[in-house]
Order: sequence, then C-alpha cells, then structure tokens
Amino acid sequence: MKTEVLKTGVDDAALVKAAAEVIKAGGLVAIPTETVYGLAASALDTAAVARIFEVKGRPQDNPLIIHVSGADEIARWCVNVPEAAYALTERFWPGPLTMVLPKGDIIPESVCAGLPSVAVRCPENGITRAIIAGAGVPLAAPSANLSGKPSTTSAEHVKADLDGKIEMIVDDGPCRIGLESTIIDLTLTPPRILRPGGITPEQLEEVLGRVELDKAVYSLLSAEEKPRAPGMKYRHYAPKAAVTIVKGESAAAAEYINARTDEKTAVLCFTGEGKLFTAGTVLEYGGEEDGPALAGNLFAALRKLDTPEVGRIYARCPQGPGVALAVRNRLQKAAAYDIVSV
Ligand code: TXA
Ligand code: MG
Repeated sequence: MKTEVLKTGVDDAALVKAAAEVIKAGGLVAIPTETVYGLAASALDTAAVARIFEVKGRPQDNPLIIHVSGADEIARWCVNVPEAAYALTERFWPGPLTMVLPKGDIIPESVCAGLPSVAVRCPENGITRAIIAGAGVPLAAPSANLSGKPSTTSAEHVKADLDGKIEMIVDDGPCRIGLESTIIDLTLTPPRILRPGGITPEQLEEVLGRVELDKAVYSLLSAEEKPRAPGMKYRHYAPKAAVTIVKGESAAAAEYINARTDEKTAVLCFTGEGKLFTAGTVLEYGGEEDGPALAGNLFAALRKLDTPEVGRIYARCPQGPGVALAVRNRLQKAAAYDIVSV
C-alpha cells in the first residue's frame, strides 16, 4: 500500500476533507497531536479497529483511547459521566488529558479490550479536531509506533514505523509536548492517575482535590498484579539496547559510566553534562530542571539510539515534580527499572 503524506499549511481544508474520507472508508490515518502522533481509525468500525491492532502488532488486551472534537461529545460515547469530568474538560480540554469513564454500549468491546470503561481525550491540534468533526465519529488512536518501540513525535518517526502499512500520514511537524497524555481514571474514588503526562498531579489536584498515583506509574508490578491501564505492564518505550538509569551528581555519574564504557556504549544525559563522558555516542536531551525540554526530546533521543551500533545505554533521569514525573515514568519503563545510585 502507498502511504500518502499530507503536510499541513498547504491546503488545510482539502487535507481535512481527504483525511476524514479515509477514516469514513475504514482506513488508517496517522494524526498529529500535541503529545505524540496517533494511529487513527473510526472507533465505531470494528474492522478498522482490528487493523490498528494488526498494523502495530499490539496485544489485544491493551485498550485504545478514543479522540473527540469537544466535551459535548462525551455524553454520546460514555454513561454516568460525573460532574468532575466536566470540571476537568473546562480547565484542560482541548489538551493532554485522557479521562477513563464508564463506556456506552455504542463503543465496540474491541476498542476497550472488554473493559467496562473507555478512555476519552480531546487533542489540542486544530487540524486533528477538524478531521474528527469531519469524519463524524470518535477516532480510536493509540500512539503511531510499532508496539514496543518509542512513541512517534514527528511524521518521520511515523514513516519509519508505518510506511506502506497505512493509508495516510498528516504531517504537522514535531509534537509540542512529546510524551503521551496524562490518564486519569474517574471511575475510582479518589480519582487515580494511571499514566503521568503533560497535565501534572499538582494541576489535577487543583480541580479534583485528592488524587492517587497508580502503583504502576512508579514501580514494577509483580506477575500477579494487574495494572488498571493494561498498557502500563508492557516494556514500552524501549530501544533495542538495555537501558540503565544512573542517579546522583554529574561527576559521580560520569565516573561510574566512564568506567563501564566500551565502543557500544551510549549516554543520554542532561544539557551541560555531555563533556564529562568518554562514550562515542553522547546525547544531551535537556536541562536537569527543564521538564518540558526533557519530555520533548526523550522519544526522539531513544529512537536515535535504537541502532545496531548501540549495545548499552546509560541514562540520566530527572527527579523533580511536574512533567519530570512523566519523563521519569517513561525512562524507568524503558530501563525495566534497572536503576543505580552513585
Ligand atoms: O497522548 C496520547 O494519549 C496518545 C495520543 C495519540 O492521543 N495516545 C496514546 O495511546 O498514548 P496508547 O494506546 O499508546 O496508550 C493508551 C493507554 C494504554 O496504556 C492503555 O492501556 C490505556 O491507555 N487505556 C486505554 N483505555 C483504557 C481504559 N478503559 N482503562 C484503563 N486504561 C486504558
Ligand atoms: Mg503507546
């Protein structure tokens, strides 16, 4: 199959129409969002949804997020929507917040992997929202990467993973945030964060009062423990090489890593630290205190390091609050919780 790439900023009205037509015909379109690119199909079309799982190589037990063009659509796809959901949409939609709500019967079971709930989000990208509105259906869209690979934050990443396998890619340049949306489960009391992202726990608490952080966000679950967000159990976001996080002061971390460096070692470090390392491949991905920069660059950096020349990656990981929590979560998962303190 030939994958058509349409760039935004040329003829957006024609682009929106063409993308909506592909969706209506049961096809797959990679859509830009402020978090990561999504691999979208009509959530009401079970054959198209099945193709999403097939193309990504995604396990069937991992449910999809549905994307809507505004808060007024929630009541069409969900039931028993609590007031708190609307308080959140008032403040954070459109934006990087996904809410888990009781599912309406109209949403196929395959979208939700048999769960009684559905995850709903309204992305910030105006062109993507116009495509959703034009298609007239909610879009089921996981991140537009092959399962197990880092999520895609540019159209080039999408092409590398999915060229020839999907009908269309909408290229709107790099994603603003670079990590997937925050997921909050509103079917639990108190509400629980299942995945940290661009909307921070601190921001959610301003609207909801107390929120809990799911254990799967910060620790490795045992084989018997079932995470609330099925996707959190997979070793996601991972390049081929083993990743080790090295915690501690820059100089001590450099001493530890340099003593273990060979020709296949790569280092992913904070801006300003690069000169301390002797490895052949050293990537700086943002200042230690600059959560937004680290979030924006993490997946592109992990993709860059996903080459046969790299056999082991040592990574520096931010310890702060805010969006740094999301960066830490993704890196810890990429490292399968292999963390050393120096
Ligand atoms: O930012 C994002 O959320 C991106 C863009 C494309 O919108 N999408 C994304 O989708 O990250 P995906 O499929 O890569 O991750 C969806 C996560 C998975 O961990 C899945 O298990 C969880 O959401 N999820 C989906 N439906 C759920 C539900 N009903 N209950 C709990 N977790 C759910
Ligand atoms: Mg994903």
